[in-house]
Amino acid sequence: MGKLVITGGARLHGTIRSSGSKNSTLAIMAGALLGKGETILRNVPQIGDVRTMMDMLRALGVHCEEVSRGVVRIDATEIGTTEAPYELVKRMRASFSVLGPILARKGYAKVAMPGGCDIGARPIDLHVKGMQALGALVNIEHGYVEAEGDSLHGAQVYFNLPSAGATQHIMTTACLVEGTTIISNAAMEPEVVELANMLRQMGARIHGAGTPTVRIEGVKELHGTDYTIVADRMEAGTFAVAATITRGDVTIEDVRPEHIEPFVLKLREVGAVVDMYDNAMRVRCNARPMATDIMTMPHPGFPTDLQQPFAAMLSIAEGVSVVTENVYERRFKYVNEMIRMGADIKQDGRSAVITGVPKLTGAQVTAPDLRGGAALICAGLAAEGVTEVSGLEHVERGYENLAGKLQELGADVGPVSNNIERETILV
Ligand code: UD1
Repeated sequence: MGKLVITGGARLHGTIRSSGSKNSTLAIMAGALLGKGETILRNVPQIGDVRTMMDMLRALGVHCEEVSRGVVRIDATEIGTTEAPYELVKRMRASFSVLGPILARKGYAKVAMPGGCDIGARPIDLHVKGMQALGALVNIEHGYVEAEGDSLHGAQVYFNLPSAGATQHIMTTACLVEGTTIISNAAMEPEVVELANMLRQMGARIHGAGTPTVRIEGVKELHGTDYTIVADRMEAGTFAVAATITRGDVTIEDVRPEHIEPFVLKLREVGAVVDMYDNAMRVRCNARPMATDIMTMPHPGFPTDLQQPFAAMLSIAEGVSVVTENVYERRFKYVNEMIRMGADIKQDGRSAVITGVPKLTGAQVTAPDLRGGAALICAGLAAEGVTEVSGLEHVERGYENLAGKLQELGADVGPVSNNIERETILV
């Protein structure tokens, strides 16, 4: 159980570079299963979830190795086995997305029901419905999803809500399915577009990714490719919050402005000065942030993944803010920890009312999940005194070298792995 010790109060200052997008990488690695031949992925982040996906591909008998820092080679010419084990799927929900590619390649796939961050009900009904529409026979038994179908066919698939994962999963699967598939009410997340771009480079025929209607014309075979992972908009957003909450001045390089716009517009509302460049952003704040309301929605709404760090910042804002979480109902598990740091937050169901306090005070807190952990770290940066965030393994699933990057910006943070080291640091 890793910990991070933060002595709050330093204004973050300087320049860092975004790492490759976690969510893009995971979907693209699953997509690489469709290709016969070698796929090279660049700018792959060094994080726990990517290591889990690499383990998953290897468990499927696919060649997958990191050839140099951030460069991963995948060769799925042969898929050795059609079964994805529980030990890997329980670690990360995104690993469930290998089901469709294996099914499309081999006519059969058996994948354990997914696990991942405990942030609320995370059903797979839309994934299953999509597979069934493509003609697969799906059977859920003993904690596994089994799908089979030798002659899948294109179909019209309608999603009740625009799920990013289900859109990516069905879009990927449909690439090797005969005929035309149309996904209606598709998710428009940038990660859907990135996956489509990569699949097209492999020979897929996909139109409309990034709009509510995605059309896929199936082809017989896909080949390998060479693709560079786009920057992580959630990581950039987290650093933008860290800059604002510490009244700092931080430039984040390698940012796609169009990917982060909904978040940036809200950040300006709290008083941060945000300059957007072609491939970078500068965030400055020299006063206490002002309260504002946020409501998470599928893209291009405010991203649920940035709700927690943003709320941490609102906890010291001037005035009362209302945060409404429309995507995952349990994404408020960090609230009790924030209260231990002096925040004034009343949360009920999908809403939290945050009355900004002039200052937070350092405390021992536990990261409940990936983004909740990031929120507590942001809070610790601004708090008076020492904050010790445990449960760091959640954070390491999705942030590359977070402590190191914060240190580069002048934060007083130190990772510790056990109590003895902690005593040394705190003495
Ligand atoms: C992805 C991201 C995650 C982000 C989320 C929403 C990855 C690895 N993870 O997760 O970081 O928070 O998008 O932007 O890319 N739903 C159903 N049935 C389904 C599937 C989803 O009801 O079959 C619901 C979910 O419960 C949730 C909503 O759809 O309320 C959105 O979920 P979805 O977009 O699928 O999230 P993920 O793809 O799992």
